[in-house]
Amino acid sequence: MGIIFHENTKEFHLCNKEISYIFCIMQNGQPGQLYYGKRLRDRESFIHLFEEGVHDMAPCPYEGNNVFSLEYLKQEYPTYGTGDMRYPAFQIEQEDGSKITEFTYKSHRIFQGKPTLKGLPAVYVEHDDEAVTLELILSDKIIQTDLILSYTVFENYPVICRNARFEHYGDKKIVLGSAMSFNLDLPDSNYDMVDLTGAWARERYVKCHRLHEGVQSIYSMRGHSSHQFNPFFALKRPEANEDSGEALGFSLVYSGNFLGQVNTDTFDVSRVMMGIHPNEFAWTLRKGEVFQTPEAVLVYSEKGLNGMSQTFHELYRTRLARGYWRDRERPVLINSWEAMFMDFDEEKVLKLAKEAAALDIELFVLDDGWFGHRDDATSSLGDWYPDQRKLPDGVKGIAEKVEKLGMKFGLWIEPEMISKDSDLYRMHPDWMIGAPYRNKCHGRYQYVLDFTKPEVVQFIGDMIVKVLRDAPVSYIKWDLNRSISEPFSQGRDAGFQGELFHRQILGMYQLYERLRAEFPEILFESCASGGARFDPGMLYYAPQAWTSDCTDAIERLRIQYGTSFVYPLSSIGCHVSEAPNQQTCRNTSLKTRGETAYFGTFGYELDLGKLTEEEKEEIKEQVAFVKEYRSLVANGTFYRLLSPFEGDEGAWMVVSKDKKEALAGYYRQRQPMNAPYKRLFLRGLDEEMEYVVEGREESFFGDELMQAGLVISDQACGVKTAEVVQGDYQSRLFMLKAKES
Ligand code: DGJ
Repeated sequence: MGIIFHENTKEFHLCNKEISYIFCIMQNGQPGQLYYGKRLRDRESFIHLFEEGVHDMAPCPYEGNNVFSLEYLKQEYPTYGTGDMRYPAFQIEQEDGSKITEFTYKSHRIFQGKPTLKGLPAVYVEHDDEAVTLELILSDKIIQTDLILSYTVFENYPVICRNARFEHYGDKKIVLGSAMSFNLDLPDSNYDMVDLTGAWARERYVKCHRLHEGVQSIYSMRGHSSHQFNPFFALKRPEANEDSGEALGFSLVYSGNFLGQVNTDTFDVSRVMMGIHPNEFAWTLRKGEVFQTPEAVLVYSEKGLNGMSQTFHELYRTRLARGYWRDRERPVLINSWEAMFMDFDEEKVLKLAKEAAALDIELFVLDDGWFGHRDDATSSLGDWYPDQRKLPDGVKGIAEKVEKLGMKFGLWIEPEMISKDSDLYRMHPDWMIGAPYRNKCHGRYQYVLDFTKPEVVQFIGDMIVKVLRDAPVSYIKWDLNRSISEPFSQGRDAGFQGELFHRQILGMYQLYERLRAEFPEILFESCASGGARFDPGMLYYAPQAWTSDCTDAIERLRIQYGTSFVYPLSSIGCHVSEAPNQQTCRNTSLKTRGETAYFGTFGYELDLGKLTEEEKEEIKEQVAFVKEYRSLVANGTFYRLLSPFEGDEGAWMVVSKDKKEALAGYYRQRQPMNAPYKRLFLRGLDEEMEYVVEGREESFFGDELMQAGLVISDQACGVKTAEVVQGDYQSRLFMLKAKES
């Protein structure tokens, strides 16, 4: 692993055993892209990959030279106003109104390790020898600003982390109108773009479309990463699939407005960029000030989309998630929401808790409705003190009573919000985002607190800290249930408003950091109306996230499948809820619900009191199963096997690192009539090992299970009929253990 700088040719080669990333300093002093992909052996120069062409009409900066034109060159971080007519990576408005800049090579630093990003989440290293970082310093002498492009290459991951930083030391102020986290110009456009799109309760559906000339993008302008688009996309070769072929993954470690874009030009160059969305972004830098972009993570895979996802999983699970809970087994929980919504009192809560304790559930989570006088969504956000009507002994009382039952206690909060009917609003109406003289939309009857104001973050933090200091709370579900629709910070000058969206996120990250620091052993689960903020930024603060408000097993199959493109199973919150399902009215068996939810962090979200004795017994068995397999699920290597988006089935599996154990789930969305033969081609096993599949008499070698497949036909001989359940919405689980040799 290393970063090689070829002094003579001014070329940088970032590489490890799997990848190479190569760029040069062009004759105009700007960095030009040469190669990103599978590892290439190093050589003094790769300049033959630098393609120029004679294009009449192109803007050319040098008199007498009509070949060098930025319009046709592949670049690292393209500038506006120097001949490139495509989308720039950034724009800077100067006091005279000019947006022309020219950043040229000044110096560079190469060092072991990876710096943290001030105030922002980022992938980290535990030891400096895990990674090497290059900081390329470019400078615009006229506006007196440095632009630092940072690249980190890891020893053990086919990953490049990138970010950009602007350091301004000129006397005149400048305004950043956009500042992407990275730009990458790829030499062709023979790619499918794969992204994760959706809506509330239908998050992260996998979509795939061919690149075409023009701009294709994913984005959020809502103040959070959103249900609609996840801050991730992949470019895969058209022939690449889950298991083979080239796939490039791009992921932004950020939770706010973002843009991910591919601009394919008329010469088939694909300009890829990702960063904070430029809409409503205008960041002023005065002398001595710095702007740091969020980090982008670039993953290279020649083993298809599964290979790409496995890299994201391992990196994000072990080098983005942090702290006490990172490597610990997560508790099986019961969440009160779908069981009682806000309609509860202490007696009701304790009844559910007792029932949960009797089923060996480990954590009771009291969801929305415990504070202020919140009986419905119209009130109390911002009043983070217990409602004495419901909890006469406060959070402390209920938490202690739950702990006496042998369970841990968890609590729901939504710190970034305010209700008009709240003491907080009556005290501080100007703490609400929006212009005072204009109407402000409510979203679920609530409004957004202005977290750009340090005093607001401090005040809300103090209230929450008081609750947490007072009571034995082991888990926090941090929710957010609306977008920012009227971005305006009251009492600020005009120049500030373009900073609002980003500062809002910085304020939220700051509060998370404060709570994590004071309560390091609390397990945080992020949430945003289900999965509207399921992004890498949140993983830095909360190692697990509520995946979706849709708990229907069949819908979850798709949602979890899509989520797994980037996020490790240890982060994917999955609950078994009641049937018929509250969101879809679909009836699925407890078995199918459990076997879908096993592939994530597991819990229940239903009124246990309504269950039959048989169902309770089944739940006990499920809980025992999770306790046995949760470490494998969280830490194993995950493979998607059959896409629920492409047919009536779905399947996935997880294999332990030593390949001695595996768990596969197979799901049938629709029962075919007179079903054809069926084999499940397993992945990731050791070809030489002999595996026992629980419930089957014969054993199988790994090569057979992967090449010939596991026979799962309904009518197959040797398959016990008990294993095969006919009908729609059925699931089957296969537990594999290697025989001791
Ligand atoms: C939205 C979340 O996704 C739900 O799980 C629940 O916590 C509600 N908010 C509570 O208001």
